[in-house]
Amino acid sequence: MQIIKVKNYEALSQEAAKIVGKLLISKPDAILGLATGSTPVGMYQNLVKMNENHELSFKAVKTYNLDEYCDLPRSHAQSYYTFMHENLFNHVDILEKNVHLPHAEGADLAKQCAEYNKALNNVKIDLQVLGIGGNGHIGFNEPGTPFSNETFIVELTEKTREDNKRFFASLEEVPHRAMTMGIKNILAAKKILLLASGKNKAPAIKELVFGNVSEKFPASALKDHGNVIVIIDEDAASLL
Ligand code: PGA
Repeated sequence: MQIIKVKNYEALSQEAAKIVGKLLISKPDAILGLATGSTPVGMYQNLVKMNENHELSFKAVKTYNLDEYCDLPRSHAQSYYTFMHENLFNHVDILEKNVHLPHAEGADLAKQCAEYNKALNNVKIDLQVLGIGGNGHIGFNEPGTPFSNETFIVELTEKTREDNKRFFASLEEVPHRAMTMGIKNILAAKKILLLASGKNKAPAIKELVFGNVSEKFPASALKDHGNVIVIIDEDAASLL
């Protein structure tokens, strides 16, 4: 695991965009694994700017997102489909047919899950972007999730629902389930870029760096992947 420590969120966002940008310039038809959450928003803003300045293009890029809430229509303001369009896809030259997120509402979630997993197994993600939860989750792989899991439906922990309630009117509105890539899907990426910013992530970063590989701490699975870059700001690094 290569750790890059930067001053603050702004520097983290620039550094992350530089890594993604370098890939898109050297491989214009790269396949990206993307993440939602507050952390990658600044990176997406930088990528939008680089696209506007014609430094890079998304025209041949394919994307696969990590996860999606179950039981929210894609049009819902808090769906990850909406998030990705508002923060990236609507502002760059990506083709909608190349955008992939789990379909996590409807009558046959098991079938939709299997379909997303099949689509993932038919491609090789060049770079997977990850945030990290306060409890060490990556995607919605909560503590205790077997590392061998592929795309599955997860019952969200109360901690994760609490963490995410800031985006909803109340805790009751936060969905109880999500469809997520499993750890096995995440580890299949050629390269992984994990971003963490802020004091509230410091304990998770400490555990990631010093802790053992254990299913109790999902992000520890990354220690067994040979090509992981972790970018942290000074606050997230404050317990190292
Ligand atoms: P955040 O979420 O970027 O909003 O902190 C990260 C995560 O829970 O994976």
